[in-house]
Amino acid sequence: MSSLILSIESSCDETSASVIKDGFEILSNVVSSQADIHKKYGGVVPEIASRKHVEAIIPIINESVEESGVKLNELNAIAVTNGPGLIGSLMVGLSTAKSVAFSLDVPLIAVDHIEAHAYSVNIENELTLPYIALVVSGGHTSLYKVNSYKSFELIGNTRDDAAGEAFDKGAKLLGLDYPGGIQIDKLSRNGNKKKYDFPRPFLKTDSFDFSFSGLKTSLLHFLKKNEISGDQMLSDVCASYQEAIAETLIEKTLRASEEFGISTVAFAGGVAANSRIRGLGMEKFDENNIDLFIPHIKYCTDNAAMIGKLAYKYFENNEFSDLDVDVYSTKRNSYTRGKGFKEAK
Ligand code: KG4
Ligand code: ZN
Repeated sequence: MSSLILSIESSCDETSASVIKDGFEILSNVVSSQADIHKKYGGVVPEIASRKHVEAIIPIINESVEESGVKLNELNAIAVTNGPGLIGSLMVGLSTAKSVAFSLDVPLIAVDHIEAHAYSVNIENELTLPYIALVVSGGHTSLYKVNSYKSFELIGNTRDDAAGEAFDKGAKLLGLDYPGGIQIDKLSRNGNKKKYDFPRPFLKTDSFDFSFSGLKTSLLHFLKKNEISGDQMLSDVCASYQEAIAETLIEKTLRASEEFGISTVAFAGGVAANSRIRGLGMEKFDENNIDLFIPHIKYCTDNAAMIGKLAYKYFENNEFSDLDVDVYSTKRNSYTRGKGFKEAK
């Protein structure tokens, strides 16, 4: 079905808008990050994030539409993230999307942020279903069996901290700036990943759940006993800590793909931008003859293109959201997307 969809993402501290043509051609994907603003507070301040979204959202939408070469009145639908995420931030995106959809008289498609991450891998490669998706972001570490664009079966979850939090909180303990994941990734490149022994949490259990708070505590204990002396030691600690996260994530995902007999696997979410997780993942899955797909870094961290990609599947099936659809802060595993489905124009 021929279509042009404008999608909007504002669940955390990135304001993003994208235009996708016919469900596969990304005509634009503009992302504006607030990371520099939140840096001085050591994490995202929700109130500031909402206000910054208010300032950024219209210019970002305009830039995205302009870059796509499409006119507003050519759009066939508006897609938007309505959860999970920061309520104030989500409300800015959702209200804007509703207003644009209403004024253009086109349908609205509300999309789940985590499902969009799990589906983002299809932007560059159309994966055979079902596949196993590891979604690793700032707030989530979840394993899904993806059966279809609207069937994401949760098979493992974090019991405490998400992988992104393990990176960000670990980085904070090491005195690095927010968001710490990328700093640990950079410093690790010069480090010895075998120098220090950090625990591989939860690998001894059969469960597909994750737990990262113990790893963070072990870093805290390590730092109480050992003072970081010099750049080399900092790099070695980063590399060893990163290795514990990477091995745990990869090992659990490998086990899930074996247990379910599924040989197509995807990594997604901001933490999937990590160079060691990408490298070690490719190596391990290749050894086990499993096809691993990881999106380009720009589709791993928060972006609106992934919202448009998943929304297209709803569009294709004439499944739309009502204009009274609400935001939600935490992942729901089943919720209705609105009662009345409207026909697309
Ligand atoms: O998916 P995302 O952009 O936002 C959420 O939905 O949470 O993920 C953000 C997380 C942050 O914790 C950030 O530190 C982490 O992704 N991250 C990384 C890297 N780039 C971003 N973690 C490790 N290595 C990276 N290169
Ligand atoms: Zn995300």
